Amino acid sequence: MNIILLGPPGAGKGTQAARLEVLRGMVQLSTGDMLREAVAAGTPVGLKAKEVMARGELVSDAIVSALIGERLDASADKGAIFDGFPRTKHQAEALEMLLDERDRKLDYVIELVVNEDELVKRITGRFTCAKCGTGYHDNFRPTKVTGVCDACGSTEFNRRPDDNEQTVRTRMAEYRAKTEPILPYYRERSLVRQVDGMASIDEVAAQIDAILDGR
Ligand code: AP5
Ligand code: ZN
Repeated sequence: MNIILLGPPGAGKGTQAARLEVLRGMVQLSTGDMLREAVAAGTPVGLKAKEVMARGELVSDAIVSALIGERLDASADKGAIFDGFPRTKHQAEALEMLLDERDRKLDYVIELVVNEDELVKRITGRFTCAKCGTGYHDNFRPTKVTGVCDACGSTEFNRRPDDNEQTVRTRMAEYRAKTEPILPYYRERSLVRQVDGMASIDEVAAQIDAILDGR
């Protein structure tokens, strides 16, 4: 099975993709993670993407489509969860071509619906363990009491440079202007399923499970 998790920044795409990887053995393909790795490694792609991401704007279609193309075959047996891709009409067409070439198809486009004020709260409070990547949040899952990662004991944490309020607003605007308009493309193909992303993480997960299990 191949699915797209579509939704604005902070909607919970990464959270739900990580769960589906563990529970269903599917492969998460996050263009945001791929780009952050490229920035950290200082590759040519990373050098191009760094400033664009810091402003909250979209990286070029050619770059992200190539990143997905390079990693798509690793999900051939287990199925792919596209997280943060496609984000434009061009990317949606590129994905269709990449899948067609491999005799693979999309099963669902799961749209996570969340209101904007909630998204800003979620994103501006978010941080991760520098060592193991476990996600935390100033309000929802703090470590302030001990300052120690529950999972690995590390005391170092990172915040994404694009997780400040101003950049989040730009990321939202990019979503509305460029990503939301691809929904009709998938609606025409009867692939879109809406999920209430304002619900708790477990409730969102249950809604997604029901879709994937055809319930
Ligand atoms: P990307 O990394 O894709 O970021 P994003 O879309 O802004 O999404 P986030 O990772 O911020 O949010 P999420 O939906 O995964 O939410 P999460 O699960 O973390 O992209 C970053 C940048 O890279 C872009 O701005 C762009 O520059 C570039 N880029 C990437 N892909 C691109 C592409 N295809 N084309 C062009 N450019 C591209 O959850 C957020 C927080 O909320 C967490 O703290 C979590 O614990 C919490 N949370 C999650 N669910 C719930 C819930 N149900 N209730 C309460 N809290 C919750
Ligand atoms: Zn840790």
